[in-house]
Amino acid sequence: VTLKVNATNPGRQIPSTLFGLFFEEINHAGDGGLWAELVQNRGFEAGGLNVPSIIEPWYKIGTAAQITIGTECSSPHARNPVALKIEVLCDNNDASLQCPKGGVGVANPGFWGMNILSGSKYRVEYWLKTTSSFNLSVAFTSANGTVLAQEHVSLNAGEWRKYSVVLMATSTDHNARLSLTSGTRSVFWVDQVSGMPTDTFKGHGFRKELATMISDLKPGFLRFPGGCYVEGARLVNAFRWRDSVGPYENRPGHYGDVWYYWSDDGFGYFEGLQLAEDLGAAPIWVFNNGISHEQSVSTDVIGPWVQDVLEGIEFARGPVSSKYGAMRASMGHPDPFPLHHVAIGNEDCYKPYYKENYMEFYKAIKLLYPDIQVISNCDGSGAALDHPADLYDYHIYTNANNLFSMRHQFDKTSRSGPKAFVSEYAVTGSDSGKGSLLASLAEGAFLIGLELNSDVVHMASYAPLFVNDNDRRWNPDAIVFNSWQQYGTPSYWVQQFFKKSNGAYLISSTMEADSASALANLATSAVRTYNASTGMEYMIVKAVNFGSSALNLSIAVSGISANNVVAADSHITVMTSGAVMDENSFTNPKKVVPQVSQAENAAPNMQILLPAHSITALELGL
Ligand code: AHR
Repeated sequence: VTLKVNATNPGRQIPSTLFGLFFEEINHAGDGGLWAELVQNRGFEAGGLNVPSIIEPWYKIGTAAQITIGTECSSPHARNPVALKIEVLCDNNDASLQCPKGGVGVANPGFWGMNILSGSKYRVEYWLKTTSSFNLSVAFTSANGTVLAQEHVSLNAGEWRKYSVVLMATSTDHNARLSLTSGTRSVFWVDQVSGMPTDTFKGHGFRKELATMISDLKPGFLRFPGGCYVEGARLVNAFRWRDSVGPYENRPGHYGDVWYYWSDDGFGYFEGLQLAEDLGAAPIWVFNNGISHEQSVSTDVIGPWVQDVLEGIEFARGPVSSKYGAMRASMGHPDPFPLHHVAIGNEDCYKPYYKENYMEFYKAIKLLYPDIQVISNCDGSGAALDHPADLYDYHIYTNANNLFSMRHQFDKTSRSGPKAFVSEYAVTGSDSGKGSLLASLAEGAFLIGLELNSDVVHMASYAPLFVNDNDRRWNPDAIVFNSWQQYGTPSYWVQQFFKKSNGAYLISSTMEADSASALANLATSAVRTYNASTGMEYMIVKAVNFGSSALNLSIAVSGISANNVVAADSHITVMTSGAVMDENSFTNPKKVVPQVSQAENAAPNMQILLPAHSITALELGL
């Protein structure tokens, strides 16, 4: 097979947003994941607002004879009224009432264990009121009580107050917990307990290793915060932007009734915008449009929902002098966020009132913010949309063969009209395992198809991005983690092959072979890109060999002379594995990852070997 590449012309520029990320609060992606908060159910609200309430995963340290605990609506936080009342019945100052070693109290194991590392610092904050003076121990411990980090605090009788302490760990445990204990007879109430590593991505509260993995993909955009999460099964449980901003003590948190877990909403609307900024990605806000899985607000009463969204946009980009711009500034971000894209709902095209309500949102947004690109949920890839839009969502979850064949999906799409946003794609089902090589190759071929069609496809993102391995609500996912480990599935690594495409120039390339069948399992593209840090240009050919036989690919480039090629700066990156269903895992996280080597005989005319079931990138330095 020969790939003829015509580098005579500069080619067509690929949108700078073509390849990006979709972050959804699913699988504990944020709460217990990217958001580095260690405490789960920090305000004791997850069991419901009625008291008595359940307080899981908090649990009692000590027996009934030594301590009683219960929930009361005693908190100073109007939106988080439930607080925990602790009555310590033992007393180390009284020989007849001695407390057990370490005292009695409560502990929180976080999200399936806290990752406490020797030498690292953690800021613990909590609200507390007490009727008498007593000593409190604030500590990270192992499950057996071994202390990893500890501070003893003397507290005086008094009303609710916020306390803050930084603990330095002297030992490591990936399955630690935070405990609040005392050995003094006392009655006290606690609320809004938070534990955060002091070292987070760009200092903004994102778990460093996970944020670094997504930053490494050089995403052009960040779509957030869902997904079905935005809709909710019922509207009462939908994500609401205004409930997720401001000091965490005032965020009520909510139960996500699509993915079935409580979220304290530490990662809220503000944090989505902040993360996009920290990644250098364009933020794309998916907002609830008055539609959930089971309910739709009718158009005659949609007005307040529209107003709510306009205020959300003002929060992101209004001046500090505006009401919601001031709210953003109070969170430490006086400069507006560059919000230029919003999606009106998620997967709602055929739900009642969608199109009628859509028009109300569309008109109001365009009137105040004509530069904002509006994304419709209705697929315009086959026939023209019957309503105005700048982009339309396209979601595809299917098997590997089908996705591979869908590399041609947009070949026949009308070249005029709104652009496609492939905001969710993935191979699912038995071909995917928990993230197989096979799945990633089909996705790679599909992405090559999107690159070739990037005049009509302007954005694409894999879904879902993250899974906490302890609570897998959707399978497969791009990045798997637990309290202390993380790895990319092959679907994550295949995205690395496309990280230089945003803003590059697509140059024309055609495959030729003696028979059509020789091309049946191949997908290829060629781009030219400039790297400001090396000051060099590169030509990158990507090829997916979806077949079970290796292939020799002859590359013939016109428009580049042999003298132009810098052999020392020319590389071949290949991802393949022994078996097509191979996966990565915590024990073998690098089983299926790209391998980079120097390109032998780098030249405009050369041959490369495409192993069976592989994706390859040839990068020629020019
Ligand atoms: O990515 C998982 C889910 O798939 C998303 O929440 C939803 O948009 C789609 O149905």
